[in-house]
Amino acid sequence: EREYTGPVYGDGIPLVDGSGERITENRLSDGEQLTVFPEPRPGLEDAPTLLVRFPESEYGGETNMAFTAGGYAAYSKVCTHAGCMVDDRENSTWVCPCHYGKFNPKSGARVVGGPAPRPLPQLPITISSEGYLVATGDFEGPVGPGGE
Ligand code: FES
Repeated sequence: EREYTGPVYGDGIPLVDGSGERITENRLSDGEQLTVFPEPRPGLEDAPTLLVRFPESEYGGETNMAFTAGGYAAYSKVCTHAGCMVDDRENSTWVCPCHYGKFNPKSGARVVGGPAPRPLPQLPITISSEGYLVATGDFEGPVGPGGE
């Protein structure tokens, strides 16, 4: 089993954007979203992640608030139906382009339409002492299809 040997900035695994830039706590405004990746480590190499930011008061339902930070929440981008990348947006609903699975990022990315059998698993995040978004652990459930 490989050990993670990359940098850990104080208290977690840095999230980076598609250019490898770390995500500062001011990166998104309320209502914005961004595809990010935990810096590669065993188990998280293929972990495209949807980062979203809303006012904290707008989260509810099935969101694990202990996994959010500064209004940010992060979920796997890999659809739990057949593994397409969830990316489109209808207001505050995420839509999978393959079979129109819909997820509510304000409520734990639970399924609100279409064929997906499970929510998108949430990634626990926090803001490091240096002001970067970091993951503090693995996704709370299996990534992608299967894992029932
Ligand atoms: Fe996303 Fe089918 S792969 S709805």
